[in-house]
Amino acid sequence: MAGRMEGKVSFITGAGRGQGRAHAVKQASEGADIIAIDICENIESNPYPLSSWDDLMATKALVEGQGRKCVAIKADVRDRNQLREALAEGVSQLGQLTTVCANAGILPMAMGDPNPLDFQDAIDVDLIGVMNTVAVAIPHLIPAGRGASIIITGSTAALIPNTMSPSVDPRTLMGPGGSGYSWSKKALVGYTEQMALHLASSGARVNVVHPTNCNTHLMNSEGIYKIFRPDLEEVTREDFIPASEHYHALPTPWIEPEEVADLVLYLASDESKSMTGASIPIDAGCMVKWPNGPG
Ligand SMILES: NC(=O)c1ccc[n+]([C@@H]2O[C@H](COP(=O)([O-])OP(=O)(O)OC[C@H]3O[C@@H](n4cnc5c(N)ncnc54)[C@H](O)[C@@H]3O)[C@@H](O)[C@H]2O)c1
Repeated sequence: MAGRMEGKVSFITGAGRGQGRAHAVKQASEGADIIAIDICENIESNPYPLSSWDDLMATKALVEGQGRKCVAIKADVRDRNQLREALAEGVSQLGQLTTVCANAGILPMAMGDPNPLDFQDAIDVDLIGVMNTVAVAIPHLIPAGRGASIIITGSTAALIPNTMSPSVDPRTLMGPGGSGYSWSKKALVGYTEQMALHLASSGARVNVVHPTNCNTHLMNSEGIYKIFRPDLEEVTREDFIPASEHYHALPTPWIEPEEVADLVLYLASDESKSMTGASIPIDAGCMVKWPNGPG
């Protein structure tokens, strides 16, 4: 039986681990070849380490284990030229691009003194990095016509009203980096709508997904733990679990990367051929529980 991604080539940023790796493996299991990009080094303001080259190679091996090809390249989404070259190399090896997963992201929530530049660091990766990814992909996508799909990774932070309010004290735990993250994710909703409109006549589609707490390195970081348990000096994963579960309507503390990959697979496949410009939560019901923001 033909897979749901048969004949497709997917460009995935942040593919070294977490959700990006889950997208790569899931889409390969349905017949796609993968161009996998990751920074493979750390960003100073980000308090937890990012993927390594070995992580990206592990993703490549997993894709190849599905019987598909994977071109894995170290590139920084902040650098449009690097991305352009990486994608050109991938397309020259794998052929016409059909799918883009603009997934790479950081959450530079400084634990010490807040640094205003962390706001800029978040925006450079979480907003400009997405725009760079889409910009370099468009020339490769448009001739593909109907079937081309761009999936952007947002966050429930894009949907929660109070995370961008000027009344949120920038010296709180969110700090400038956390605010920059929320600000970027919110901006991605409007960006998705704009790009969906401008690309529609070419047949290419653009949608954004909004995961809640997802079981990856980003979630299992001191910053996220402390946001959920500001009452504790030292927060463990066990302390975080009940607070994260309270955030959701469904009885779960988090979702798994593979669940997001299932949704992204649907948006990448032709099954969603009439969907564009959509902003889709995968949030265990947190937005219906907290429509005005968590109390
Ligand atoms: N985990 C969560 O709770 C959660 C919730 C909502 C949204 N998200 C979003 O999901 C996406 C994936 O994150 P994740 O949860 O898999 O976390 P993760 O930290 O495990 O993965 C992020 C990946 O992006 C890569 N990356 C970071 N900066 C990069 C850059 N400049 N260039 C290229 N690659 C870069 C990292 O090396 C890493 O491999 C992000 O956009 C994140 O904001 C995560």
